[in-house]
Amino acid sequence: MTILVTGAAGFIGSNFVLDWFDNSQEDVVSIDILTYAGNLENLSSLDGNSHHHFIRGNISDRALVSEILNKYQIRAIVNFAAESHVDRSIHGPGDFIDTNIVGTYNLLESVRSYWNDLDEATKKAFRFLHVSTDEVYGSLADKTPAFTEKSPYEPNSPYSASKASSDHLVRAWFHTYGLPVLTTNCSNNYGPYHFPEKLIPLCILNALNGKPLPIYGDGKQIRDWLYVKDHCTAIREVLKQGQIGETYNVGGWNEKTNLEVVETLCAILDELKPKSDGKRYADQMTFVKDRPGHDRRYAIDASKLERELGWKPQETFETGLRKTVLWYLENETWVNHVVSGEYQHWVEKQYS
Ligand code: NAD
Ligand code: TYD
Repeated sequence: MTILVTGAAGFIGSNFVLDWFDNSQEDVVSIDILTYAGNLENLSSLDGNSHHHFIRGNISDRALVSEILNKYQIRAIVNFAAESHVDRSIHGPGDFIDTNIVGTYNLLESVRSYWNDLDEATKKAFRFLHVSTDEVYGSLADKTPAFTEKSPYEPNSPYSASKASSDHLVRAWFHTYGLPVLTTNCSNNYGPYHFPEKLIPLCILNALNGKPLPIYGDGKQIRDWLYVKDHCTAIREVLKQGQIGETYNVGGWNEKTNLEVVETLCAILDELKPKSDGKRYADQMTFVKDRPGHDRRYAIDASKLERELGWKPQETFETGLRKTVLWYLENETWVNHVVSGEYQHWVEKQYS
């Protein structure tokens, strides 16, 4: 048996594939178009592993996807492929429409055609798991309860609107065509292999390089943080035991303001790699112009996943963040390769 993982060279996709091989004997075919966010170095520990097959390609390429599905007799798909950065979606929404909406549509159609031709037992066991975000639910006011699977969709950024659209397509392919789909809506992830355009890895690297730690607006926006390995475990559980057609919220009950996040990671750095001048990394925090349409608060109620599938996160925010900071300190080569070229253009465009 073989599973197909799309967007497998990105942050969560690569963590998922590595985690899969730690927990399963089953082969994986990885497909990724390798945008700026896709990095084959994330999967380099699998070089020479005959159970892993990497293919560079677009989820929108129906001929390629059909060929892969048939050749490897895929029994499940985990769809991570997406444009994922809110700030980039504000500068240029086009790629988000192309991949997150049109790409998901094309993938669903390739899969539907393959799935239709399977024998009844294989058809029944087949799964299409779509990985989505809590951002589709919009912004929460202070003290209102966390998002449940029944919260209305109210996306506010081009990124979240494109993810919301893809969730609706996946839902419709279940209701209309019977495709056995599952959807997960997860809160903000952090951990190894996180591209340093997102808050946590950006601030770790800027701190170490003596650069400003940019805090948008007043820094009191709240995100609900989950260590990436806990997200991977949740996806494996949903794939194994989830009810088809259902959606599952995934989150770590870790609501933090951005100020708390950056202060905590600075304190960990102060301990693990004190500055030679005796100053604190937190002194580098700098308030900058806010993000347009910045969602104030996200919070995930993951009790359905905990109750029905028995999943629980292993890491607290403190233990997960410490592991993450250590990983960045210990993986200088990965960091040096990632922060060259296109990355520099992005940083100039966004923060100049
Ligand atoms: P990422 O940007 O690090 O990785 C996305 C990967 O998809 C990249 O490797 C990229 O090359 C690939 N890709 C993009 N367009 C493609 C296409 N047309 N065909 C094939 N591959 C393509 O993103 P991530 O943070 O790993 O997020 C993965 C998924 O999880 C996304 O769908 C995202 O919406 C969702 N998600 C992310 C978070 C988070 O905090 N990062 C939280 C919840 C959900
Ligand atoms: P980010 O990591 O981009 O994730 P998302 O926007 O998907 O939640 O941002 C997390 C929070 O940090 C968000 O409220 C925006 C804020 N932020 C900053 O304050 N400064 C930054 O330089 C970045 C990238 C994000």
